[in-house]
Amino acid sequence: MSVKDTDLLDVRNIVPRDRHPLIFKTFDSLQQGESLVLMNDHDPRPLLYQFQMERPGRFEWSPLEQGPEIWRIEIAKRAEAQNDKRTIADYLEWDHDRLDGIFAAFLNLVRSSETRASAEAFHPFRLGLLRHIRMEEELLFPTFEEKTGMGDGGPTYVMRLEHDQIKGTLAAITGLLDGETQADPVLRQAEQLTSVLTDHNNKEEQILYPWTDQALGETSRDELVRKMQAI
Ligand SMILES: [Fe+2]
Ligand SMILES: [Fe+2]
Repeated sequence: MSVKDTDLLDVRNIVPRDRHPLIFKTFDSLQQGESLVLMNDHDPRPLLYQFQMERPGRFEWSPLEQGPEIWRIEIAKRAEAQNDKRTIADYLEWDHDRLDGIFAAFLNLVRSSETRASAEAFHPFRLGLLRHIRMEEELLFPTFEEKTGMGDGGPTYVMRLEHDQIKGTLAAITGLLDGETQADPVLRQAEQLTSVLTDHNNKEEQILYPWTDQALGETSRDELVRKMQAI
């Protein structure tokens, strides 16, 4: 779901003790699949932990902007899960789809030469993809390597190399957008990013995520998802 379809909940002028009750009330009034965007003047991490305690398995937490003055977090209501416990596959595949959606909206803006709007739309994509890469490199890959004994030369080795390639293309697009360049060079880089990312995500979804889910028990994989949400 794009940010435009969501409710913006700016709590900066709400007295602190009323903030969390208001946020939970707004979240509870959402339909499944809908989301709200929380805007605040500090990192709302304690709220994430409260969501994990009080609405386990019921929400997605996606930072769109992280300071230094404004924090914006998209909080989505998941379809009713049969189990409060999350799996790596459901969590990270959802995030792949979310990022694909933001990237498609960004490309539409580039194609219609909306220079400023496309630069603004690129920011949450870049932030979200770099966060996704950190979740994998800092938490998922070490767990996979430990459980399977596959390190150098294994699947995570290849995934890390591809992450470096992805980060290089992200930096190139950022540079082009800063220079207020024409659409064509941006679209060429974007095409390259799409081709690397599509293949990369498929490999993760077919091998890495299901293998790690299988290697971990129900509780450990839910724990890992909670840690990834906090990155
Ligand atoms: Fe990855
Ligand atoms: Fe991924």
